[in-house]
Amino acid sequence: MAAHLPVGRVITFANEKGGVGKSTLAFHCAVALAHAGYRVVALDLDSRQATLDQSLSFREGTARVLHVDLPMPRHAVLHHPSAAQLQQEVTRLDANADYIVLDAPGADSPIFRRAVAMAGTLVTPINASFVDLQVFGRIDPVSGRPGLVTCFGRTVADLRSARRRIGLAPVDWLVAKNRVRSCERRQIERIDAALSKLAEQQDFRIGQGLSERVAFRELFQFGLTHLDLRLLPDLARASKATLAEVENLTSEFMSSASPALRVSPPSPGPSVRSSRRVRSAYRDALTAAAQGTVSPCV
Ligand SMILES: Nc1ncnc2c1ncn2[C@@H]1O[C@H](COP(=O)(O)OP(=O)(O)OP(=O)(O)O)[C@@H](O)[C@H]1O
Ligand SMILES: [Mg+2]
Repeated sequence: MAAHLPVGRVITFANEKGGVGKSTLAFHCAVALAHAGYRVVALDLDSRQATLDQSLSFREGTARVLHVDLPMPRHAVLHHPSAAQLQQEVTRLDANADYIVLDAPGADSPIFRRAVAMAGTLVTPINASFVDLQVFGRIDPVSGRPGLVTCFGRTVADLRSARRRIGLAPVDWLVAKNRVRSCERRQIERIDAALSKLAEQQDFRIGQGLSERVAFRELFQFGLTHLDLRLLPDLARASKATLAEVENLTSEFMSSASPALRVSPPSPGPSVRSSRRVRSAYRDALTAAAQGTVSPCV
């Protein structure tokens, strides 16, 4: 583990389990931090899917087509993931970034471990399922007590010890439930009880997490979140419940350790102007997509 870390606070979204919402949370948090006025570098370490990087490219497209000045994290995907390339990309994009958001792939690898090792804050989304808890440790189904620490739990413990050995500050580990459905309340109570035991055993905080909402996925093709709809009020209405969940999530790691806010964040702004016809078609598609987010099932 190198002692040379980027200057900004590193927030790594990682879990050895795939499909739990790492990229969705990383994208919403990167955008929320940019809205709050911070300089954000977002690096996608999953070069095969590149979900985070794509969503931010779509966002640039939306800003250009609609001529709207969206707060913009600077971003890249690491095609040959290595610690050196990671450091190089941060320096290239913004060496003075306040936050560096890393979206890790959903499997163990050297770059996965590097991303976890350099985190100031490690955010691990999980679905409310005992299957997902298996990556932390075994839970006795009768006593509810935690037993053997397993794959991801062990990885984090090892990397924490390595940080301690070289005198780096401890990692703040936040485990957040994602895609929570209120109709599963009884199952969620059992998961919460098991999570609390694992939190004590493995020293992580339990975040409030996000519910299952169409609003967290329907604007992906446009690179937008509901925070952005406040800048586009004539297109669609932002869902207050969705906004509150994203704000809660980001406030959970924007602690006293947050860098001082910069008043006027740099924004590349829309450079190529689109024609009125293209803009109108794009607005219609975006409005149709956003209408899905206000249906009664969200
Ligand atoms: N809170 C949510 N509400 C609704 N859908 C969600 C939510 N979070 C994630 N999803 C959806 O769940 C799926 C998986 O999400 P995502 O790609 O963010 O997971 P991931 O952990 O990054 O996956 P991978 O391990 O493949 O990188 C996607 O279809 C995404 O749109
Ligand atoms: Mg992903």
